[in-house]
Amino acid sequence: MKVIYPGSFDPITQGHMDIIKRLRSMFDEVIIAILNNENKSSLFTVEERKDIIEEAIEEEKLTNITIHSFDGLLVNFAKDMDVKLIARGLRGVTDYEYEKNIARVNSTLYEGFETIFLLSNPAYSFVSSSGVREIAAFKGDVSAFVSPSVEKKIKEKFNY
Ligand code: PNS
Repeated sequence: MKVIYPGSFDPITQGHMDIIKRLRSMFDEVIIAILNNENKSSLFTVEERKDIIEEAIEEEKLTNITIHSFDGLLVNFAKDMDVKLIARGLRGVTDYEYEKNIARVNSTLYEGFETIFLLSNPAYSFVSSSGVREIAAFKGDVSAFVSPSVEKKIKEKFNY
């Protein structure tokens, strides 16, 4: 069975990596789907995000993971992939409030579409891509939040 793990991944964090590893132990294939949102300014381009994820996955020697990007609606990407299941991580109630609405919209748009939620590892419950971007902008230490290869890419981007 396949599962889609969608997100912005700008950049991928240890929290995302933890969810990916756990999904890998439950499913035959994990399809990472990077949202290519033209309206949202991002730190890394979709191509850069894809390369960063590829490296982080190689670093951990994780198998049966494919990386795609999509624009538009997630349900349309899921239809193209012929997969009706996505997974999202929940760090707390704020994530839950946001995610439950998206999950309901998606299942209304695409009958039978399911979202499963994995509770974030408490060690990463405070980690976010936006937090990482902010620390990086001030040339701070991001090593506790991202993989070594991601840290390298961040330092290249911000010249430190
Ligand atoms: O990492 P993020 O930014 O929290 O991921 C959010 C994501 C990409 C899962 C969500 O924004 C999404 O699926 N966007 C695609 C547009 C879409 O399908 N919207 C319908 C639900 S309101």
